[in-house]
Amino acid sequence: MTNVLELHNVSRHISGKKIVQDLSFSVQAGEVFGFLGPNGAGKTTTIRMMVGLSPITSGDILINGHSIQTSYQHAIQHVGAIIENPEMYNHLTARQNLVHFARMNGKVDEARIDELLELVSLQHVKHKRVRTFSLGMKQRLGIAQALIHRPKLLILDEPTNGLDPEGIRMIRDYLRRLAKEEGLAVIVSSHLMSEMELMCDRFAIIQTGKLIAIEDQRAETKQDDLVNYRMKVAAGELEGAQKLIDAFEEGVTVREEEQYLFFSMPEQKMPELIRHLSSASIHLYEIKIEKQTLEDKFLSLTGKKEADV
Ligand SMILES: Nc1ncnc2c1ncn2[C@@H]1O[C@H](COP(=O)(O)OP(=O)(O)O)[C@@H](O)[C@H]1O
Ligand SMILES: [Mg+2]
Repeated sequence: MTNVLELHNVSRHISGKKIVQDLSFSVQAGEVFGFLGPNGAGKTTTIRMMVGLSPITSGDILINGHSIQTSYQHAIQHVGAIIENPEMYNHLTARQNLVHFARMNGKVDEARIDELLELVSLQHVKHKRVRTFSLGMKQRLGIAQALIHRPKLLILDEPTNGLDPEGIRMIRDYLRRLAKEEGLAVIVSSHLMSEMELMCDRFAIIQTGKLIAIEDQRAETKQDDLVNYRMKVAAGELEGAQKLIDAFEEGVTVREEEQYLFFSMPEQKMPELIRHLSSASIHLYEIKIEKQTLEDKFLSLTGKKEADV
């Protein structure tokens, strides 16, 4: 795997205050990486350091192997970024904005511009002035703009802020496609864990400037990992089933709640347990795996609710 972005023990102190502390992680080609944390956690500060907009107090950030501090030009040429709001000219059309931006970067590749307008579904409104665009359309045009020079790394700071669910879904689909089809490394920050769960392959969770966890959504469950199950049996058989499961495997405890049984067990034991219950004439109506949501994890790690941040 190629690391497109690497943070090595990055810290940022502002007038004695430790805003970012000792952050290390890397983002690979072809993945969407979430940068998650409550408001004020230090996401924007970290992202500003990645693109050289803010000095790094200690540590280093490498983009495609080049230090943003000592080889700025080499590093930044691989980056496309939207930090805060994308800069657009409201009196120009979508296409004119992209042409203008491409010209500032040196050359105008007309085919690339149309390909990008197509990618973010703005082809049909490309001759409309940006003034008339919704926030979601502006964000998508911003993504197209950030991709004009074919960067290897796309950095987006809270791109879904203020978007409606449909707009969020579109951004999510584009980012996933870009990572998969173009091998782009994407890092996207958010304070909304529910969004990150669907969008990202992996993510880092930070709080008060410190890394508290790296989660890999692609990690496969191992055979003896405990899985949380929810089971529904015939109403009169709840107690009997509970006893059987309790006795079936050492260390398994079953809890009953609103006509359901809840317990954790290695997945490989399940077929045997089902046979065991059936042979005792227990009527099984439903067995469901209860996945720990990202929000549960975030809560247990930070003690903070999304709504509180
Ligand atoms: N230039 C600055 N001077 C002083 N404090 C700052 C400055 N920039 C950010 N901060 C503080 O650093 C913390 C992290 O801010 P920020 O990176 O914007 O967080 P996030 O993007 O995760 O919401 C906040 O407490 C903020 O007030
Ligand atoms: Mg921010």
